Order: sequence, then structure tokens, then C-alpha cells
Amino acid sequence: MSSIQSLAALIKPVGSLSPEMTISDVADQLLQPSHKAFLSLPVVNRQGRPLGLISRYRLQDIFMQRFGRDLWGKRSVTEAVNTESLVIALDTSLDEAARIVTAQLQYPITEDFILVDKHGCYQGLGTVLDLLKAMESRIDQRNQALSRALQELKNSQAHLIQSEKMASLGQMVAGVAHELNTPLGYVKNNVQLLRDLVQPLLELAAAQAQLSQCLQDPATPTDTVEAIFSRVQQATDQASPATFEEDFTPLLEDTLYGLEQIGELAVSLKDFARLDRAMSEDIDLNDCVRSALVIARNALKDKALVTTRLGELPLLTCTPSQINQVLLNILNNAAQAMTNSGQILIKSWADTRCAYLSIQDNGAGIPNDIQQRIFDPFFTTKAVGEGTGLGLAISYKIVQQHGGTIRFASEPGRGTRFVISLPLSQPSPLQRSA
Ligand SMILES: Nc1ncnc2c1ncn2[C@@H]1O[C@H](COP(=O)(O)OP(=O)(O)O)[C@@H](O)[C@H]1O
Ligand SMILES: [Mg+2]
Repeated sequence: MSSIQSLAALIKPVGSLSPEMTISDVADQLLQPSHKAFLSLPVVNRQGRPLGLISRYRLQDIFMQRFGRDLWGKRSVTEAVNTESLVIALDTSLDEAARIVTAQLQYPITEDFILVDKHGCYQGLGTVLDLLKAMESRIDQRNQALSRALQELKNSQAHLIQSEKMASLGQMVAGVAHELNTPLGYVKNNVQLLRDLVQPLLELAAAQAQLSQCLQDPATPTDTVEAIFSRVQQATDQASPATFEEDFTPLLEDTLYGLEQIGELAVSLKDFARLDRAMSEDIDLNDCVRSALVIARNALKDKALVTTRLGELPLLTCTPSQINQVLLNILNNAAQAMTNSGQILIKSWADTRCAYLSIQDNGAGIPNDIQQRIFDPFFTTKAVGEGTGLGLAISYKIVQQHGGTIRFASEPGRGTRFVISLPLSQPSPLQRSA
């Protein structure tokens, strides 16, 4: 269906009647084959200006009267013309024309209207029905275009949400890789040192084995026994208990500590392993804070000093991976808001209904005029590549789906504090994905 753009496309070039004609003349005109299709005919003066429309209904009324034709036939058509008919300029937009017509719509709706040029001269007739049909087809087309645009928007939004998830995943992987590198480095170093330190022990073991073998054999010559004995002596000196005490013990302890750190990272990773992981019933929110801090350590370490004051919390039901995503985003925003000597204070507490987390930074703060908008999807004050504007929108959605709230207070130049509350028990089954 091609869309009709202007009134000109709807125009019917209908010939006009002159005011000098009689009503009988007009009746004859309306019977002419060329005019049969029209419900009315315009009456136009010598200057081309329309005086009004005369309709078939009007003539029918007149001639149906008793002696109607005799009484009215010889009178001027101007006595029967409808002088209040609609006159619309051809350059009126379709929407405006539709507005004018519908505002004055009367029965029958197949009424015609007179179209004039910009000098007010008659150009042709239009019908209300055609106009309404044109409007309908335009609305159809607009609807189609709108639903296409909506679909495209949904697709790109889904794409962006995915990339925001991937960004936090990517950041987490980079952070964890970095965190793993440090303990891995010194564990490796220590093991190499231990390998060297173990050499004298191996030598001692070998010498002692040789000694005990020759002691069991009475035929061994005395000088051989003495030689072996001095080898044992030497090896013993090299592997003195003091050396163990000094070198081995710290190295082993250091190595164990490194391995513990690696293990801790593995535990933190487990929570992030699947972003869509199902809800768990017995989550300690403080654990989420700790693991988010391990993950974010790398992003935070040059930016801010983190202090935690975590109170004792009852276990609650939540999707830890999603809560971690919220924490990571808030921590990340805090880090990005810092210029120097940043400080982040994280507190947790609980009452009978909810557990609360507060994350406070002393960064740039949020200007008053944008505070309303920070939870809007795609709202960002950051450069392309630095921010998608989705972090807080997703966080809001996640917290909302958990039946909780996320609020903030911010003072430009002094910092920002986000407070999250999460109910201790979930009233309804959680939807899993944000
Ligand atoms: N702690 C904060 N300090 C200052 N501004 C913040 C802070 N957290 C959020 N904002 C503001 O809110 C905006 C939206 O944040 P967010 O939804 O995470 O998107 P993004 O970080 O990708 O810009 C940020 O661009 C920033 O202007
Ligand atoms: Mg963000």
C-alpha cells in the first residue's frame, strides 16, 4: 500500500455550477453520467470562489415535497446551496485536513469537501471517506515502521546488556589473572629454591645408604669405611638442622600462604563462574563483599584504599553472582570517580527484615542535575569505551528482582554513598536473569 502524502492525491476534478443556474438545471446536471459518481456539486462564482456545495440529498428533499419541483425549479441554485460546507486549502497537510474534517464530521460521513488553491479558487472536491482511508493506511505504515524500530531497539539493548555482562566478566578475568600471578610467582620461586636446598639432603641420604651397606659387609677395607664415613660427615655438615630451620621453614610457610591465596581466589571465582547461576538460600552477603573485593582488587589498588566494617548478617536468599555484579559495578564506579587518595568504606548491618550494604566513596560526587538519571539505561558521563551507562540500570533491576532497594546520596566534590537493602526472605520466586 503506497502512502498518500498530500491532499492533491485525493482531489477529484469535478466541474462546478454557476450561481445563475436554476435548481432544475442543477438537477439535470446531477443526472449527467459524468457527475453520477458525485454526491454533491460545487457552486462557484465568476471569480472562481466557491459559494458552497449542493448535494443530492438536498435536491431529493426539495423534489420530494408536494409540488416541490414547481415551487423550487425556477429559483436560483444559491437558495439551495449549503454555504457552510467545508473548504480546505490544497496545501493543508493530511493530518491537519483530517483534524478539520473530523472536528466537523456530520452524518452522512461520505460528505464531500471543497479544495481551493492558495488564492481561494476552486480546484476540485475531496471526500471524507478517501481522506480517512489515506490516514488509516499512513497509520498502518507508521505502526509497521515503529514496530520494526522497536524490535531493532530491543535487539541492540539485549546486545548491550550482554556486552556489559561480558565487560564485567572480562574485567573480572583480568583482575583474577593478575591476582593469581603474584602468589604463583613466589610459589614458583620458592619451589625452585627448595629444589636447590634439597640437594644436600639427597647427598646425605645417598652417603648414609652407602655407609650402612659397607658396615653390613665385614670384608670392607677399613680405609673404604673411613672414606665413606667422611662423606657422610661432610653431607651431614651441609644439611645441618640449623639450615633447615633457617631456610626450609620460612620457604615452606611462604609457599603454603601463596597456595592459600590461590585457593581463596578459586573460591571467589566460583561465585562468578556462571553469571546466571541460580538462587541460593544461604548466602552471607559479607562473603559476596569479600569476593567482589578480591576480584576488584586490581582495579581499585591504585585508586582507593578500601576499608570494611562488616557486621554480622543472617544468611539470606539471593543469586550471589548477580549481587556480585552489582557490587563490582558500584565499586568500579567509585574507583572511576576518584582523582587521588581515594577512600572507599564498605559497611554491612541487618535488622529483622533486611540486610544492608553501604558503599561510600570520597570521589567526585554526582552533579545535582543528573542525579535523577543515573539509573536510566544508557545514561553515562563517561567517554565511549569507558562506560556503557548500563551498570546501574542492570544493578537496579537485579536488586529490584531480589525485592530490595538501591538508594544513593551524593554531594558533588565530596563523594557518593550507595545503600543496598535485601530482604532476608524472598516473598516470591526470583526471576533469574536481569
Ligand atoms: N560513585 C559515583 N561517583 C560519581 N558518579 C557516579 C558514581 N556512580 C555512578 N555515577 C554516575 O552515574 C553514571 C551511570 O553509571 P553506570 O550506570 O554504572 O554507567 P557507566 O559507569 O557505564 O557510566 C556514571 O556515568 C556516572 O556519571
Ligand atoms: Mg558503571
